[in-house]
Amino acid sequence: MSTSLAWDERYQGGGFQFGEAPNRYLQCQRAWLRPGMRALALGDGEGRNGVWLAEQGLSSVSLDWSPVAGAKAAALAAARGVALRTVTADAAEWDYPEAAFDLVAWIFVHLPPEDRAAATAGVLRCLAPGGLLILECFSPAQQGRRSGGPKMPELLWTRALVEQHFAGLEVLELLEGTVALDEGPRHQGQAEVVRALMRKT
Ligand SMILES: C[S@@+](CC[C@H](N)C(=O)[O-])C[C@H]1O[C@@H](n2cnc3c(N)ncnc32)[C@H](O)[C@@H]1O
Repeated sequence: MSTSLAWDERYQGGGFQFGEAPNRYLQCQRAWLRPGMRALALGDGEGRNGVWLAEQGLSSVSLDWSPVAGAKAAALAAARGVALRTVTADAAEWDYPEAAFDLVAWIFVHLPPEDRAAATAGVLRCLAPGGLLILECFSPAQQGRRSGGPKMPELLWTRALVEQHFAGLEVLELLEGTVALDEGPRHQGQAEVVRALMRKT
């Protein structure tokens, strides 16, 4: 089972496990972003996505349960000269503030089913009307590939799981299929993912 300590260990030392550039799917949604929007980058790791959202002029919160990740995210924001609020918390237990965000980035966050249910409920609560969810996660077809993702199958996402957990959101885009990843040493090569762009009406 994944723990915050295991992630602390992965993040110790130099380098960025998933690179310093933002996730490509998130980056592709740039046209939806407006300065001043409030963004939550969930399970943001070393901060590449939270920092990029801040660079687009958004008010950005980077949440991860690994304090090592949070410190690296804060350092990356400082190096890039942008403001980033880092929160060290378990995504399954955080007290998600009501209607506080215009965008939630859920990028490669794979949680056990009970925790996933708690975190998705929190995301639904914290999105403001009109708020966007941008999600990319590995799907079951990723098993056996070496381009990243969790070993435990129950942590993987499917299109059906997205539809189930985010049933209240409008689907703007929802795909499950093969992509080419080039995101740091841990996400390299062909990969099987679910990608979703959804909106709270
Ligand atoms: C595969 S990494 C992706 C990091 C980042 N989203 C990115 O794309 O660069 C997964 C991240 O989720 C975080 N994470 C996993 N379970 C978590 C939980 N229950 N609460 C908060 N963060 C969690 C890990 O610490 C790790 O940073």
